[in-house]
Amino acid sequence: MKLFAALFACALLSLSPVQAQPSPIVIRFSHVVAPATPKGKAALRFKELAERATGGRVRVQVYPNSELYQDRDELEALQLGAVEMIAPSLSKLTPLGVREFEVFDVPFLFPDETALHKITQGPIGKRLLDRLRSKGIVGLAFWDNGFKSFSANRPLYRPEDMSGLRMRIQPSRVLDAQMRALGAQPITMRFGEVYAALEAGVVDGTENPPSNFYTQNMQDVQTHFTASNHGYLGYVVIVNKKFWDDLPADIRSALEDAMQEATRYAASISDAENAAALDAIRASGKTEVHTLTAAERQAWVDALAPVVQEMKDVIGSQLIADIQQTIRTSDQHVSH
Ligand code: LMR
Repeated sequence: MKLFAALFACALLSLSPVQAQPSPIVIRFSHVVAPATPKGKAALRFKELAERATGGRVRVQVYPNSELYQDRDELEALQLGAVEMIAPSLSKLTPLGVREFEVFDVPFLFPDETALHKITQGPIGKRLLDRLRSKGIVGLAFWDNGFKSFSANRPLYRPEDMSGLRMRIQPSRVLDAQMRALGAQPITMRFGEVYAALEAGVVDGTENPPSNFYTQNMQDVQTHFTASNHGYLGYVVIVNKKFWDDLPADIRSALEDAMQEATRYAASISDAENAAALDAIRASGKTEVHTLTAAERQAWVDALAPVVQEMKDVIGSQLIADIQQTIRTSDQHVSH
C-alpha cells in the first residue's frame, strides 16, 4: 500500500506543471585587488551583466582581495578547473610560458591609453589572446587599470634616487630588468603580501597605479609617491578552456557580449578611478605626491631606454617592432 502511494505521488509530480529548474552554471571569478578598483568594479559589472543576460542561468561569484587564491595559485586553480575565471595582470602570465605578454611591462613604450587600446583591442591583442588556447585557457578580453608610479620612503625625483632600494615587482623579467637599470634590487612578491612587506621593511618600495596603492592603504607605509606613469598595468580576463567550450552556445554568446560591455566599462572608469585615488593619497597627508617636471621625466625615460633593447630576445623583437609601428601610425597622443 505504501509503495502504491509513493508511486502515485511520483506520477502526480511528473504531471505537475512546475518543472524543476536546472541548477545554474556557476562562474567562480577570483582576483587579488580590492572591489573599489577598476578591476574590482569591472568584475562586479560583468557579474551583473552576465546574470541579467542569461536570465539567471549563470551565477557569477566574485572573490576579490586574494580571498580565494593569490597570484600564481589562481593561475594554477584556473588550469585545474578550481575556478572558472580570473583576470591576472599582464605581468603574471610568464609561468604559462607566453613571454609575449611581458611586452606590456616595457617602460615608456605606450604613450597613453589610446595608443595602448590600438594594441589590446586590435589584431595584435587578438593574436596574443589566441596564444593562450594551447595552455588550456581562453583569453576573453583586456581590461585596463592604468599607468604605474614608483613609491618608497624617500623622495624619488631622479632615477639615481632608486639606487640600492629593494623594490617589489610582479613576476616579469622586464620588470626585473627595469629595476636593475635603475640600480634597485627587484624582489618578486605576491600582491597580497606587499603591504605587510612594506610595513616590515622587507622591501623599501613598489610600483602600482594609484588605485591599487590607495585601496591597499600603502599611504600608511610609504612616505613618497612619484607620479612617474612609467609603465602600464592592465589585465587579461581568462577562462578555463574546457569549461568555456562545454557551455551551451547561447550562454557562451551572452557571456561574450557581457564581457565586451564590462571591458568598455573598465576602460571608461580607469582614468577617473586613478585620478580620484591620487587625490585621496594626497589628501591622506601621509604620502608626498611628486609630479615630475619635463626634464625630470626625460631623465627617467633615458635611464630606462636600454630595457627595451635588453629585453628584445625575451619578448621577441618582431612583436616590439609591430607595436612601435602601430603606435607610430596611431592618431594623437596625450603624454603622461
Ligand atoms: C600587482 O600585483 O602589483 C597588481 O598587478 C595587482 C593587480 O592585479 O592589479
